[in-house]
Amino acid sequence: MNFKTLLFLFIVYSFNFSLILTLASSFTSGVDPNSHTSILFNSVGRANYGFDIYTLPSLSPPSNAKELKITDGVSVNFNGYFPNQNSSARSFISQQHQNLLSKTTSAPSVELVYVTERNGISGVNYVAVYCDSVSQVRSRSAVEIPTRVEVQLLPANGEISDRISMKDRPSLVGENLIYVSTHEDSGAPRASWAAVYSTHLGTRLTRRLTPKGLADFSPSVSPSGVWTAVASFGERGWDGEVEELRTDIYVFLTGDGSRRVKVVEHGGWPCWVDDYTIYFHRRSDEDGWWSVYRATLPRVGRVSTESVAVKRVTPPGLHVFTPATSSGNKEFIAVATRRPESDYRHIELFDLVRNEFREVTRSISPQTHHFNPFLSSDSTRIGYHKCRDASNEKQDDHLVLQNLENPIPGISLFRVDGSFPSFSPTGSRIAYVKLPGLYVMDRDGSNQRQVFKGLAFPSAWDPVREGVIYTSTGPIFATESSKVDIISINIDEENITYTKLTEGGENNAFPSPSPDGKWVVFRSGRSGHKNLYIIDAQDGEKGAIWRLTEGPWTDTMCNWSPSGEWIVFASDRDSPGSGHFELYRIHPNGTGLRKVIQNGSGGRVNHPWFSPDGRRIVFTSDHAGVSAEVISTPHQFQPYGEIFVANLDGSDIQRLTHNSYEDGTPTWGRVYIEPADVAKPIEGPGCTFDDCHWLSTKPNHGLKGAPIVPTTTRVQCV
Ligand SMILES: *[C@@H]1O[C@H](CO)[C@@H](O)[C@H](O)[C@H]1NC(C)=O
Ligand SMILES: *[C@@H]1O[C@H](CO)[C@@H](O)[C@H](O)[C@H]1NC(C)=O
Ligand SMILES: *[C@@H]1O[C@H](CO)[C@@H](O)[C@H](O)[C@H]1NC(C)=O
Ligand SMILES: *[C@@H]1O[C@H](CO)[C@@H](O)[C@H](O)[C@H]1NC(C)=O
Repeated sequence: MNFKTLLFLFIVYSFNFSLILTLASSFTSGVDPNSHTSILFNSVGRANYGFDIYTLPSLSPPSNAKELKITDGVSVNFNGYFPNQNSSARSFISQQHQNLLSKTTSAPSVELVYVTERNGISGVNYVAVYCDSVSQVRSRSAVEIPTRVEVQLLPANGEISDRISMKDRPSLVGENLIYVSTHEDSGAPRASWAAVYSTHLGTRLTRRLTPKGLADFSPSVSPSGVWTAVASFGERGWDGEVEELRTDIYVFLTGDGSRRVKVVEHGGWPCWVDDYTIYFHRRSDEDGWWSVYRATLPRVGRVSTESVAVKRVTPPGLHVFTPATSSGNKEFIAVATRRPESDYRHIELFDLVRNEFREVTRSISPQTHHFNPFLSSDSTRIGYHKCRDASNEKQDDHLVLQNLENPIPGISLFRVDGSFPSFSPTGSRIAYVKLPGLYVMDRDGSNQRQVFKGLAFPSAWDPVREGVIYTSTGPIFATESSKVDIISINIDEENITYTKLTEGGENNAFPSPSPDGKWVVFRSGRSGHKNLYIIDAQDGEKGAIWRLTEGPWTDTMCNWSPSGEWIVFASDRDSPGSGHFELYRIHPNGTGLRKVIQNGSGGRVNHPWFSPDGRRIVFTSDHAGVSAEVISTPHQFQPYGEIFVANLDGSDIQRLTHNSYEDGTPTWGRVYIEPADVAKPIEGPGCTFDDCHWLSTKPNHGLKGAPIVPTTTRVQCV
């Protein structure tokens, strides 16, 4: 299959409907549809991120009437940037798209460059909103209908990066777009693929600014455009941390990435006021509060961490992070805060002269999280993203199955709104977990129903007996002695009952049936360690049981191959108790044990599932590290989780997902689902998600340098 999407332009009138003017895409498929398969996975929380970018004037008191939604309510829109109204990039975009812009008479009221996740993958768009005054947007005047002109600056799968990738933190300098992309493999396990690139908007010439082998986050271009500052692990690399990343700040020439120098030890999210002044955030080593600091670079002489003066700007007593500055503005900065008295993340201004805060968003939407502020170059406007107010406008559809473009021909990739999905043998139905409870739906998202009320995970269908699903029920994240047992449920019975296949409750979990439906492999803590056992599929351990693996470590998350020849599983046997998991395979008769991913690297590789032809496996892994500063997103337990596939011998590892969410619990089915979203109307309140749990209201000391939580049963997504 070969997608070649050409320039994708569309114009949106009003806020509710869009008219696609040009959508030129050619689609060729040279693959037999019968050989096509589908992979399903879950992203924790993602179904609730209805983000749009909003703006308020920064110089007058905030009010609901003044808040303007800039983006169009489609997909997830975040991490905006206001282009300088005089920038050459802006006039360049105007020239390129005369046909669109000539439809309007006045200058745009607001222009924005931002990240958007259309088609399930991220790209960078430019949008201009036209209306005589911003206030008229909210007044819904019949005369002044605001007009939106939208231009896709960086197609997610375009010629710039042939491979699917995450895009982040765009900004414009001259006629170049500066941004983060994950399209190049770092080449090393557990090393982030996030790097800063510069793309000329006209020629599409793209230059990598981050040296090969390093990862950079959160780029910020200085007012002159000459310098770019980033947060980076440098040569040190990622240590597995998922709270404060403890990055350092580096500066390099925006033109070609040269003259790279570390300017601040320990800091992230840099932003410039002038070419010598950078604000950034860090969690204070003294008092544990996240705070904004200022770094002043020397005007003469060598720039180094020794010659740069660092001063704390915001006081302890509240968390202050993700600062934003504007050119030459020495009066105030914009920040996100978590105050001890509030459970919500809000945008505030911090007055640099009086050393006091001015709240911006709390009076408008007190119980909504607001993320990653940014200021216009003339300081008059502040932007941020938050969940769109679904009660106020057309309800968004809820994506039950969200299609994602992916780099492997013949595979249809979907994000399911539920964890531990699995296909019925014919592929017509999908089981999934939504705690607490096990659910089943038809492949088109219809007929959703709960089939088990209690806590249950994961799901696996009997390959022979129709309607029979195996799962385990009991507490999760539990110790070896927790009461968890394997059950089978016949969901086609009129009154659903379940059969208990294990009795002792010794943390018996992760059942996977053999292809003939006679046996079930699972993990159990009955010996005091979690190892693999096989039981009779109908009579359970009372019928027959034998132990497949044995040792003082954890073997778990097993999956039986379609040929019956192999069982693949995750194990920490290389370093028991460390939290490091790798994949192994073994014959059901206990012979042939070997490691699957030879260079697993001591990270977290979990939840393997065989391809329908048994030659490959899909799994979740921290192989590509983290892709963004974790504090800039809603809570993710395991933000490094991405979906990969590899051959059964561990060769040809391919990355399927690119984002800053926790992707996990994949499954692989022999049916091909047409690559289109399956949506249902939202039931109940949308947009409910947690802010970073560890960003507590108390000083936050975290686990300094502790790489991995030493919990051996920690699974993705629950
Ligand atoms: C843009 O250019 C105009 C005229 O050249 C100037 O008056 C204005 O200050 C500039 N604005 C910015 C934000 O640089
Ligand atoms: C299911 O339960 C209902 C209500 O208890 C009962 O009337 C019905 O006979 C049951 N059906 C079967 C097949 O057992
Ligand atoms: C174990 O099973 C594998 C594959 O199913 C088979 O090739 C092998 O001969 C068996 N070994 C023994 C000792 O039975
Ligand atoms: C692991 O990776 C390194 C470099 O990436 C390579 O030299 C080595 O051969 C690999 N080892 C295995 C067992 O694949």
